[in-house]
Amino acid sequence: MARKSVREIASAGLRGRRAFVRVDLNVPLVDGKVADDTRIRAAVPTIELLREAGARVILASHLGRPKGKPDPKYSLAPLVPVVAAAIGSPVAWCDETVGPKAVAASRALRDGDVLLLENTRFLPGEETNDDALARQLAELADCYVNDAFGAAHRAHASTAGVAAYLRPAVAGLLMEKELTYLGGALENPGRPFIAILGGSKISGKIDVIEALLPKVDGLLVGGAMACTFYRAMGLETGTSLVEPDRIEMARALLDRAGFRLTLPHDATVSTDADDGGASRDVHRDAIPAGMAMLDIGAGTRSSYGRAIATANTILWNGPMGVFEKPPFDAGTMAVARAMADATARGAITIVGGGDSAAAVAQAGLAARMSHVSTGGGASLEFLEGKPLPGVECLDEENAA
Ligand code: 3PG
Repeated sequence: MARKSVREIASAGLRGRRAFVRVDLNVPLVDGKVADDTRIRAAVPTIELLREAGARVILASHLGRPKGKPDPKYSLAPLVPVVAAAIGSPVAWCDETVGPKAVAASRALRDGDVLLLENTRFLPGEETNDDALARQLAELADCYVNDAFGAAHRAHASTAGVAAYLRPAVAGLLMEKELTYLGGALENPGRPFIAILGGSKISGKIDVIEALLPKVDGLLVGGAMACTFYRAMGLETGTSLVEPDRIEMARALLDRAGFRLTLPHDATVSTDADDGGASRDVHRDAIPAGMAMLDIGAGTRSSYGRAIATANTILWNGPMGVFEKPPFDAGTMAVARAMADATARGAITIVGGGDSAAAVAQAGLAARMSHVSTGGGASLEFLEGKPLPGVECLDEENAA
């Protein structure tokens, strides 16, 4: 069901009104500095739209998993200058998230001002979706904008609970974009529609495989999870990562999937990921004892490249190998390049968040994808067909 957009409330004008904007600023910090500002930049269009409409913008986010109590390591304070640089305007800071100090800071804002609150997860009620905390958050503003797609699969006080007390409750521009691309692929894809799924464990991907199989024209598997399928086929996998308790499940899936599911027919193997020099390609039925599959082989890279070249919608989630350690990045980089070429000829290319987003960034190809999701777990749950609490809590599109 479509949700009301921030565009709608912005076009009516928001002068004098405070907007509580939940963003996902869960960015990596190295030595107290923001190491990757992708999520900060992704939040800018909504902030700009609200400021242009005259709103007083109150930004809230989690950072890391501080377990419901303050932990200086996870303070949002280092993000203040980065957000300010991204929006080209000063950002006020409040070292509390709710309560009298935060309320006073929100009331001190003038039209177009921006305030950043301290980490929502410093409060014990955030992750339990505590009702009293939801009310306290609602006291800070006059409307709710959820732009935190990356946290939309969490039913927390700031991602969902607050909407019960703060109306209108609308989707931010990033949230809308994510839902449009991911939802469009599921509901009305240009065909052929192929999905490429990788990563080390089949257990984390089983639900998405099940959900996508009836919708796709082809599902290409890569990463170590291919080895659990190999074992289900009775193949030897050497020292490759295998989930023994999922072999039966993989066998059942192979039976059901038929021709639509493709496994790599060759593998790049080595003694371990730190020993690139010993790597070689072998057919999937010849993985030697004492060696592990660390990437898809060159033959599979070519055949997956050809499949991508003929598809009109391509959805990718999960690396093809140990992409952090060359030469085992070859399969992942080949998929990234083939997808960039597909975008150039007009196909819709969508990259799930997390590792695959990191891989396209590493390849320098993020700008050549139709969409790179900012949500890892959230995009997976969405693709699995699960309702996202951070979306479900918002006003319906045609609501008054
Ligand atoms: C993410 O990084 O995937 C989101 O910010 C959600 O974080 P979480 O897994 O700690 O809830």
